[in-house]
Amino acid sequence: MTRKLFVTTALPYANANFHIGHIMEYTQADIWVRFQRMQGQQVHFVCADDAHGAPIMIAAEKAGITPQAFVANIAAGRKAYLDGFHISFDNWHSTDGPENHELSQEVYRSLRKNELIEVKTIEQFFDPQKQMFLPDRFIKGECPKCGAKDQYGDSCEVCGAVYTPTELKHPFSVLTGATPVIKSSEHYFFKLSDPRCVAFLEEWTQTPNRLQSEVLNKIKEWFTKDAEGNGGLGDWDISRDAPYFGIEIPDAPGKYFYVWLDAPIGYLASLKNYFGKVGADFDAFMADPTVEQIHFIGKDITYFHTLFWPAMLHFSGRKTPNHVFVHGFMTVNGGEKMSKSRGTGLDPLKYLKLGLNAEALRYYIAAKLNARVEDLDFNPEDFVARVNSDLVGKYINIASRAAGFLTKRFGGHLSGDLGVEGRALLDGLRAHAPVIAELYEEREFGKALRETMLLADRVNEYVDQNKPWELAKLEGKDAVLHDVCSVCIEAFRLLTIYLKPVLPALAARVEAFLRVEAMQFADAQRSLGAHQIGAYEHLMQRVDPKVVEALFEPPPAPKVIPGGEDLAPEIKIDDFTKVDLRVARIVKAEHVEGSDKLLRLTLDAGEGRMRNVFSGIKSAYKPEDLEGKLTVLVANLAPRKMKFGISEGMVLAASHANEKANPGIFVLEPFPGAQPGMRIR
Ligand code: MSP
Ligand code: ZN
Repeated sequence: MTRKLFVTTALPYANANFHIGHIMEYTQADIWVRFQRMQGQQVHFVCADDAHGAPIMIAAEKAGITPQAFVANIAAGRKAYLDGFHISFDNWHSTDGPENHELSQEVYRSLRKNELIEVKTIEQFFDPQKQMFLPDRFIKGECPKCGAKDQYGDSCEVCGAVYTPTELKHPFSVLTGATPVIKSSEHYFFKLSDPRCVAFLEEWTQTPNRLQSEVLNKIKEWFTKDAEGNGGLGDWDISRDAPYFGIEIPDAPGKYFYVWLDAPIGYLASLKNYFGKVGADFDAFMADPTVEQIHFIGKDITYFHTLFWPAMLHFSGRKTPNHVFVHGFMTVNGGEKMSKSRGTGLDPLKYLKLGLNAEALRYYIAAKLNARVEDLDFNPEDFVARVNSDLVGKYINIASRAAGFLTKRFGGHLSGDLGVEGRALLDGLRAHAPVIAELYEEREFGKALRETMLLADRVNEYVDQNKPWELAKLEGKDAVLHDVCSVCIEAFRLLTIYLKPVLPALAARVEAFLRVEAMQFADAQRSLGAHQIGAYEHLMQRVDPKVVEALFEPPPAPKVIPGGEDLAPEIKIDDFTKVDLRVARIVKAEHVEGSDKLLRLTLDAGEGRMRNVFSGIKSAYKPEDLEGKLTVLVANLAPRKMKFGISEGMVLAASHANEKANPGIFVLEPFPGAQPGMRIR
């Protein structure tokens, strides 16, 4: 019977471009999906941008655009990655789409009807400087469970605990650095502690074959209360106060769904949007008990997908996921933490722009993947070795060794008869199809590729034993040469089937070369016979280690900075230390009679005397706004006699090269804690 599969990957936050971790997740899911399609299964594979939440709202505010415009910009950049790495989503949508607004509110109404929503007044952190409730991600502190430092307000990246921000130790606002104050507000909760939820989740999580064993162990920890009765399933805060970029909670003015409530519902919304485009019935599909709903996710979001999400679905009368497949994290160069700073990590777009082969990366990722929650590392030397010696050296080589003779000597015709030895080899290859299929099904991609490469070794041994290049020189050996080369091509076809979920574009080129229809897994059980193939064109180049090196080289320092001004000539540190920069307090600021540019500043640079400095900042500041503030003073500048008096130094400020076109002067201010007189170095 044809399986009906509804497959998703996690919805990426729409606040940044993809990094290698996203590409790894999509590649894993894509390989599995392509394998299922090759088995003739019906698959709907969808994803979407996770558009909501405070971080995106704040990022948009900083960029001076609406959050909608902000996420649209990010969405516009997705295609280059997805096409570039052959990720075959059927649909890409957004959690800010109308389907998600509707579905999220429907789910909520059902939960409320089931008496699983409760309103509680909670104390919440409020940034007194920024005058807003602080989202979890904008408060940092120490994890209340394991004590790890510098953890976000919603969950701990070290021990995986999920908690509320007020439980953090030594909290501070990421926006301003201020210590947040506690303020009360009404919040909406999903009563996960309700005995119905607990009973359901125990049953759901422990259903055999639903979750990986490591995931189940982690969940058991989350379920367990400690000696003091802490831990266990707590109620889940699903509301946030305005201002918030999200979906309004019905009948609750000024309240929005917390982004993690509407994000997974975005899976359904993307499918619904897709069904709308192709004219399929979403409700009927979701009501079909034979549909298998499968989510691929990374380990950091397990809690949301194995507790909150199934409970939300179940208690709103919906189908729950059949599987949540959790993978580990991808690291680069020996576990270096993924960073956006220059020269570290592996930028997927740069990879493509350098002309590196997308499928080489797919192959490498697949070769290192298994079904467990294990991290995997990208190692450049290992990458080059595996691609060049396995993929090109073992597999591609089979075709390139045989195809030339076939075209030149036999007009591209395969011989119908392959000889005893050849048939035995091919039967052996075909016999492995079920094992390899099972490994793909189980997401043991590394093992599937190892099996396939062992088969490629067998074929290469056959070639080495039969030496077509020698047969070609001998009289009367044409028939043998023809058989040997035909065996190679048939073997190459079988190996291509086994590799096709990982190397779809290459497989398409092979199909064109072999003049066959798009290959399914079942095609491994038949034979090409006396078939006419096309001309061989080189299918894949070796990876050039130099280009891989270039991938990790930091981009050259820009000569021209964005402000439009050329960089000054390079200096040595001694040149810099000649300039004595000091923190100074602006004790007094006043207008200068007769000058429309200058303000007169009285500065305390901790010298036990005041300095008089004229500064051309009148257009940008009112004197009263400057008084009391700290700034930076060039303290060893020779005094200068001006029309209005002597200026004893200079205050630092930023401005655009072309001040007429881009007005604005910005006086420098040190971070809180600096004292007058401190040297800046
Ligand atoms: N927006 C949420 C998911 C909502 S799903 C309803 C989110 N977004 S994310 O952009 O931070 O992460 C998206 C996916 O990428 C997650 O599955 C996450 O685990 C995965 N990865 C993020 N970094 C990763 C690696 N370094 N390696 C592999 N996957 C990683 O979480
Ligand atoms: Zn922790």
